[in-house]
Amino acid sequence: MTCENLCGTAVCEEHAPKTPENALLSRRGLLSAFAGAVATIGFTALGGSAMAAAKTYTACKTTDIKVGSAKLVILPGTNVKVAITQPKNGVFKAFSPICTHQGAQLNGISGSNLVCPQHGATFSTTTGAATRGPAQTALKSYKVTVSGTSVKVTV
Ligand code: FES
Repeated sequence: MTCENLCGTAVCEEHAPKTPENALLSRRGLLSAFAGAVATIGFTALGGSAMAAAKTYTACKTTDIKVGSAKLVILPGTNVKVAITQPKNGVFKAFSPICTHQGAQLNGISGSNLVCPQHGATFSTTTGAATRGPAQTALKSYKVTVSGTSVKVTV
């Protein structure tokens, strides 16, 4: 087997797929690699500016989410979806509702876990940690504050 990307050598450690990103590179070739690099740079820059421009939104009322339940909310004026949970009375958490396995949107709750309908992964409603595979990585979490009866989420 030769390096299918760039060099055509039989053993190419430089281009050998070692990570999911590298595996992707090996399949799609140089142009895709360049596009991926640009995308990565773009996301890095976007992430940096997003962090600098973190903003707090009133997501819902405390009464909208019963203890042990969750609600999917689109933050006002944005297209950002968050799953807000109340695992214990008065404790509110917010997570990205996008499964860390292959990106399906979480759409259910089972006990103390958010559930992905695609392959059945589950995530803690308290920490966002993956509690059943195939997902291995925790959901992205957001800062939540409660002001009176308003649940506010900072993204
Ligand atoms: S996309 Fe969620 S478990 Fe696979």
